[in-house]
Amino acid sequence: MQIAYDLKPSSERRTEQFKPKDDVGFGTLRTDHMFLMDYRDGQWCEPRIVPYGPFQIAPGAVALHYGQSVFEGAKAFLHDDGEIYTFRIDKNAQRLNRSADTLCIPAIDEAIQIEAIHALIDTDRLWFPMQQGACLYIRPFIFATQDRLSVSPSETYTFCVMLSPSGPYYSDGFDAPIRLLITERFHRAVAGGTGASKAAGNYAASLQAGKAAAEYGAAQVLYLDATNTQIEEVGAMNHFHILKDGTVIIPRFTDTILKSITSESFLELGERLGCEVRQETVKLDQFIADVESGEIIEAGGFGTAAVVSPVGSYIFEDNRVLTVGDGQVGPHTRKLYQTLTEIQKGAVAGPEGWMRQV
Ligand code: PLP
Ligand code: COI
Repeated sequence: MQIAYDLKPSSERRTEQFKPKDDVGFGTLRTDHMFLMDYRDGQWCEPRIVPYGPFQIAPGAVALHYGQSVFEGAKAFLHDDGEIYTFRIDKNAQRLNRSADTLCIPAIDEAIQIEAIHALIDTDRLWFPMQQGACLYIRPFIFATQDRLSVSPSETYTFCVMLSPSGPYYSDGFDAPIRLLITERFHRAVAGGTGASKAAGNYAASLQAGKAAAEYGAAQVLYLDATNTQIEEVGAMNHFHILKDGTVIIPRFTDTILKSITSESFLELGERLGCEVRQETVKLDQFIADVESGEIIEAGGFGTAAVVSPVGSYIFEDNRVLTVGDGQVGPHTRKLYQTLTEIQKGAVAGPEGWMRQV
């Protein structure tokens, strides 16, 4: 792919490595540039890297009215050899295309997506935040740009990649387990819907649930299926729990659960973790009984932004609290976190092809 470069004047660009004094937070900072490519006349064209800045978009653009927009979330890490590596970026590229297909958006060749992401990181490599636990968060997304009010797939789109120097998603970090709200009031997805894709609208639809969770002092809602009998996932991560023999259980992927690359990674790492990692249908009643009896000793969430986020307790709408184990971060969850982050940081080698040098 021939990428056109229209870079900021060097006097306005970062000139030395970013060494933040304070915690960088999650998703608020931007780098100097973004990658853009347009779709028109039946093909993706004009790949380019330009200064990060606002778009010109028609007020009638399909994405603004009907939400024809999908996104991805991935991360890049700095290794001791001074090089930046993306983590399983091929899986993100595949999933962007699966999500795109669900929303009738034309696919983008995976190799082109990866080349675009790596070229952008290379351009803005001085933005890698030199701070313990920080990384470059990568946000590729596609949105429908045609100026038309009929409800049908747009004929034009823009693909954009932006970067955000970021720390942990939950601001209190790994050592402060979160609380989740279990409620029958909100559902994230239904069979045959868009739940298994990263459609922008799924996240807009989770905002009310997020507000309700906050009213209960919870970080997010733990979504149940439409019959309120099975545990599905959390708004920005898959759910997992750990049995007292160390077995890690992730709800089985269905078309109402996002196929998390982090979950898939743990399923593949099984042996290295020294425990079984498997997927099951998780019945809510059984889950509650097993937490109460001590059969389930730890729980949490898996995700790119969330990494491994321990859950200390659940709260129900009647204010009943269900505490997992002693409510603190357990040794198995810590092992999961350490194993994944050591691979990502390059402290130990991961399976072939997981880390790709920019
Ligand atoms: N579930 C939802 C709804 C998400 O938004 C995310 C975040 O991407 C995940 C799960 C975790 O997926 P992954 O590990 O691929 O980031
Ligand atoms: C990610 O983990 O990358 C996500 O996309 C979750 C996001 C909603 C913060």
